[in-house]
Amino acid sequence: MAVGDRDQDGDMAAALLVLLGFTLLGIETGSGAESNISTSIRDEGSRTRLTCTLNSSDTHVLGHRWMKGDRVLQEDSVPDLTTEYEVDPEERSGQYSCTFLSEPAGRTARVNVNGPPKVEAMASSVLGIEGERAVLVCKSESFPPVTEWTWYKITEASNQVLNNKSENTFVVSLGTKTELHKQELDLKADAGEYACYGTNTEGVGHALITLSLRSRLAALWPFLGILTEVVVMVIVIFAFEKCQKPEVVLGEEDTGSAPPKSSRSHTIDKDKRNAS
Ligand SMILES: *[C@@H]1O[C@H](CO)[C@@H](O)[C@H](O)[C@H]1NC(C)=O
Ligand SMILES: *[C@@H]1O[C@H](CO)[C@@H](O)[C@H](O)[C@H]1NC(C)=O
Ligand SMILES: *[C@@H]1O[C@H](CO)[C@@H](O)[C@H](O)[C@H]1NC(C)=O
Repeated sequence: MAVGDRDQDGDMAAALLVLLGFTLLGIETGSGAESNISTSIRDEGSRTRLTCTLNSSDTHVLGHRWMKGDRVLQEDSVPDLTTEYEVDPEERSGQYSCTFLSEPAGRTARVNVNGPPKVEAMASSVLGIEGERAVLVCKSESFPPVTEWTWYKITEASNQVLNNKSENTFVVSLGTKTELHKQELDLKADAGEYACYGTNTEGVGHALITLSLRSRLAALWPFLGILTEVVVMVIVIFAFEKCQKPEVVLGEEDTGSAPPKSSRSHTIDKDKRNAS
């Protein structure tokens, strides 16, 4: 209060002192070594609520950020020492993090929600061209991470496992992602429905992908279309030029025949004059 009063009086030294005080305070809160974040997961019926609580009020909280993987889920600028996030029941399991935003650095804690993998296809339908290659991709952000990925080609008889031993096929898998590479696509053998299965200690999840194929010839149709258009246009232009040429010649004949006409009329005039 006394500092404020002096500041109002316009005492420059006091103002500097206040500034210095704030700077020192900033350094003190910046360390943040004395605070810790406690986390909790509560299941309420079908809902799951995550809570993060900072035990120390030394830190000046500017807001909160919730993330899953590298995706920001929620952000606010509330200065509270506790923050909550309600998990999407559709994709419950995963590695979450809460950050208490502050200067110069925020404080982050991880919250792992265990569950069976939720597997998603990057694209649920893929269009390939005969003889080319196609890549089918599935991913899962679940926790614990997927430890085993399996690909199947779905057929009426039985589902056929696809791996590096399969013809023109290889599989590249990481914890969060798997890719099925099909090379030299065959119109009959490769078109159809595929499934990717992800397994972790909590269970199994899967997604379906439809691979449609176009024949090489079908891929050529647009080019044939353009080619036809060009040929037709060339014919039309050629025909048009051919029709125009005689007219041009006629025009030249016209101008060529004009002088004799005028001279003839001139001579007629002369004759008329002569006659009169
Ligand atoms: C953090 O603080 C909470 C209570 O404020 C305590 O229960 C917990 O054990 C502390 N965690 C660590 C790692 O010190
Ligand atoms: C917060 O937790 C840390 C680590 O356990 C501890 O050192 C600190 O004293 C706690 N602060 C308060 C205000 O309880
Ligand atoms: C299959 O082949 C790909 C590419 O050659 C390789 O990255 C992958 O590790 C192989 N997978 C297995 C299970 O050997």
